[in-house]
Amino acid sequence: MIVEHQVPLQPHNSFGIVARARELLRVRSEDDLRALLAEPGRAADPKFVLGGGSNIVLTGDVKALVLKVEIPGMRVVEDGPRAVIVEAGAGVNWHAFVTWTLDQNLPGLENLALIPGSVGAAPVQNVGAYGVELQDRFESLDAMHLATGQVFTLNAAQCAFGYRDSVFKHVPAKEGDFGLAGQALILRVRFRLPKPWQPELSYLDLQRKAVETGIAEPSARQIYDWVCAIRRAKLPDPAVIGNAGSFFKNPTVTQDQCADIIAREPNIVHYPMPDGTVKLAAGWLIDACGWKGKSVGQAGVYEKQALVLVNRGGATGGEVVTLARAIQTSVYERFGIRLEPEPVVV
Ligand code: EPU
Repeated sequence: MIVEHQVPLQPHNSFGIVARARELLRVRSEDDLRALLAEPGRAADPKFVLGGGSNIVLTGDVKALVLKVEIPGMRVVEDGPRAVIVEAGAGVNWHAFVTWTLDQNLPGLENLALIPGSVGAAPVQNVGAYGVELQDRFESLDAMHLATGQVFTLNAAQCAFGYRDSVFKHVPAKEGDFGLAGQALILRVRFRLPKPWQPELSYLDLQRKAVETGIAEPSARQIYDWVCAIRRAKLPDPAVIGNAGSFFKNPTVTQDQCADIIAREPNIVHYPMPDGTVKLAAGWLIDACGWKGKSVGQAGVYEKQALVLVNRGGATGGEVVTLARAIQTSVYERFGIRLEPEPVVV
């Protein structure tokens, strides 16, 4: 167990923002973490858990001890008549895991292909794309409590998944309160891949692919290829242009609020939700305010998807945050809707 000092974080955040960790520990196993917590004073030290770094905006050097999760491993836990349970270490790259499941002929995660980040970070914000959310395939996870070193298991209900939300995003106000933000490190995640496999093709972009290619009954591998192609066409590759995916959540409004907005903005992109609320496309709202292609310093709004903020080269976290606030203000002034950021500002 080696704690490194003054570690550059630019390679470890998908925005590519320059910052350092005062101290950083690469966590490859539970034992690394136990050894750290056994050192005098370490249990009480402030800590910051870093997964794939694809959902953070660094606004300066990180003073807390950075726990860089690098726990490996992928395996089939159980192959039952109604589902296969697969498990991956929290440090495994998400897309590599999705690809591995398909290589093993275990379909079910194909709609979630190419989402940047790690397996351990995926439940934190309940990643979702093209009609599937992580919670639809989630079985359970193991995590370690950072103050005590105790390992515990959570099922889906205990994770309290919501749209881009889970118990890991909530900061407990006092001890015993709901929320595990900053309190726990996810070690391993298990997924339930139901049998028989059913394709999920409800998302419009996938239906378009089916029509374009004339393939009405695609295989899981075909859907995986379509999802990769759709993402590559509209989302910037973080290896080329720094970004953190969608910067804002899609807001939900009541039917009355939506009717009000439609009366003023007939073209607004909106989706009725099963619970009676209406989800609005944040990308459309930002686009309608004329932000596509605009910049603050080196932070910009991606030309092909207004929901994605990008690093045009050397952007600071401050520039990203300033741009995000300016977007929030103009969307609020025009539509009366407050956009909520998706990434965590550190
Ligand atoms: N739109 C515009 N202008 C834009 C962007 C979008 O008019 O600049 C319109 C599109 O035409 C479309 C609608 O907005 O009608 C929705 O756009 P899209 O299909 O690209 O999806 P999204 O709602 O913008 C969400 C997720 C993505 C996920 C896709 C596909 C959120 C915050 N984002 O984006 O997730 O890949 O759906 O399921 O829910 C992420 O979280 O990082 C992410 C990329």
